[in-house]
Amino acid sequence: MAGFYEAIKKVEGIVYDIGTGSGILSAWAVPYANFIYAVEADSAVANKTRPFLNGFKNIFFIEGDARKVHFPQKADFIICEMLDTALIDEEQVPVLNSVLKYLKKNGDVIPRGIINAAEPVHMEAEHICYQENESSLHYIMGPLKVYSQYDFRTPINPLADFQLHLKIDTNGIFNGLKITSFTLITPKIICGPTPMLNPPLMIPTEKLRVKKGDVVKIKLSYQMGGGLNSVRIETEGIS
Ligand SMILES: C[S@@+](CC[C@H](N)C(=O)[O-])C[C@H]1O[C@@H](n2cnc3c(N)ncnc32)[C@H](O)[C@@H]1O
Repeated sequence: MAGFYEAIKKVEGIVYDIGTGSGILSAWAVPYANFIYAVEADSAVANKTRPFLNGFKNIFFIEGDARKVHFPQKADFIICEMLDTALIDEEQVPVLNSVLKYLKKNGDVIPRGIINAAEPVHMEAEHICYQENESSLHYIMGPLKVYSQYDFRTPINPLADFQLHLKIDTNGIFNGLKITSFTLITPKIICGPTPMLNPPLMIPTEKLRVKKGDVVKIKLSYQMGGGLNSVRIETEGIS
């Protein structure tokens, strides 16, 4: 939150806050922006946030799906914090892809982007899960490898398809992938995973006995915004 606060202190002109939720990011932008359009799709959330944001003269609150909103003014800044690990389970990518046509030529997006990295692991859980609790106990079997990086100022293909070559530095049973996302709130403010913001995602794979020096080949695909059911993983062998 401190990172977002620092970034929002730099906004000016017309600001959108897409997926405003509690409305806190819009409220922080009030002293810096000329005008803010705050959009929230969930009506239960909107009912709580509307009275709070209606108290600010330079915020216009819109209840609805941001992809269907016609904004009367282009944005200098788009705040869109629908983050989750690897952007799989939230609508950050489909929503931004739709709203970016309203961003002015030199406009900016907060957060600016995301970096995704993977590690080979031995994990206890047999199902895909976030590493928030004891059901996702694991140990790391090789170095963290960055496999994708996105800049939110340009449209992103939501269909992600990767071939990962992961080095192993521990003898044992490899049976999973740990994905960690790092958020570039701005190019200078990078936020790692926290239990609240993007806890690592643990994805089980086929079991393989591995030794130090092996490289495990994995095929990983998912749809950003498509939910955890869209995740497919295949172990293609060891070299
Ligand atoms: C992670 S929360 C954002 C929280 C918010 N930034 C805050 O600080 O409270 C994401 C929010 O985006 C909203 N949302 C998801 N899809 C949306 C869409 N298509 N249009 C508008 N809001 C959407 C959700 O209902 C949710 O409140």
